[in-house]
Amino acid sequence: MDAPMVKVKVEEINDEIDVESQEREHFTRILNSFRSYRTFCQRRVTDTLRYYEGLPTHHKQLIPNFLQHLTHVQWCICENYDVLKLIIQDVEHIFENKQNAANAGEDEPTSKATLPKISDMDKLKSTLRQFVRDWSTDGQAERDVCYTPVIEEIIITSLAVTLHKCKEINNYTLYPWVHQWTNNLRNEDQVRAITFPDVDTSDLPENASFSMAAGNFLEVYEDPVFFIDTAHNIIAYVEKIFEILKPGGYWVNMGPLLYHYADMPNEVSIELAYEDVRSVIEKMGFVFEMEKKNIASTYTENPASMLTHTYNSVMFVCRKPVMKEEGQ
Ligand SMILES: C[S@@+](CC[C@H](N)C(=O)[O-])C[C@H]1O[C@@H](n2cnc3c(N)ncnc32)[C@H](O)[C@@H]1O
Repeated sequence: MDAPMVKVKVEEINDEIDVESQEREHFTRILNSFRSYRTFCQRRVTDTLRYYEGLPTHHKQLIPNFLQHLTHVQWCICENYDVLKLIIQDVEHIFENKQNAANAGEDEPTSKATLPKISDMDKLKSTLRQFVRDWSTDGQAERDVCYTPVIEEIIITSLAVTLHKCKEINNYTLYPWVHQWTNNLRNEDQVRAITFPDVDTSDLPENASFSMAAGNFLEVYEDPVFFIDTAHNIIAYVEKIFEILKPGGYWVNMGPLLYHYADMPNEVSIELAYEDVRSVIEKMGFVFEMEKKNIASTYTENPASMLTHTYNSVMFVCRKPVMKEEGQ
């Protein structure tokens, strides 16, 4: 009589094991993208070098500094790699992924199953640019546009995340634009250094309390800026934000609608125009308290590039009514 129940339980346990092993595999793949960074990026330089070597001599003579520039690019990649190695050196303590400790210092991944994809390497390059946005003086202009108005709305006086390894201001250097092979006005723009962190990360008020959670927003609930367009189903995000907010609580949003999954192979999502997102938010029960459109804002932008992107972002503040009827 009890057999079907036992079967369901066994299936549930198997599902959990499946999810765990998928998560472990995913995390190992991300780690492997860090480990492969130097080899992957140097391959790009080698391709250019090989093409350069095949040029007619009189062409090479016209660009006498080019080889030296490529050597400089290679050196920057090695420097970036040193910082990336630092990030993953204590990986056994992150998210309790003890199974990764054994391989933490290796240059190249060993298992084929967890080989990084090109998209993983792209994300890693964008992580390097994210250091500029969040932790350097070079990112100040972007932060002033994207973060300051949000911080002002939520009246937080000090917002920082403790980077355990950063003991001094600006004691790390990265070359975030070294992967940009096009739209450089000058060679030195490609190999330009940035230093971080531009603040003392240990200088936090005593009562400051921060936590970090890895996972899907719909499971871990964290809502930063430039975020709502990361959804497959943006309505589910709005619904979750409404559900987790206390009555009377505020939702402050800022960013564009660059839907992450739009036109991505093997992915589908619902890409609503802002007017529809707005109406979903209201229908969910939120009350708009403030709304500003066309805020010119950038995202990990290289200011020296000949190509730049500017988003006309939307910022809004919504309130979850105390009484249900207030919002209707
Ligand atoms: C465009 S970035 C914005 C990052 C940061 N808020 C900023 O403004 O610089 C979007 C961020 O959302 C994260 N993200 C995307 N989908 C997510 C999901 N379903 N759950 C949690 N985080 C997600 C990405 O990893 C990325 O860090």
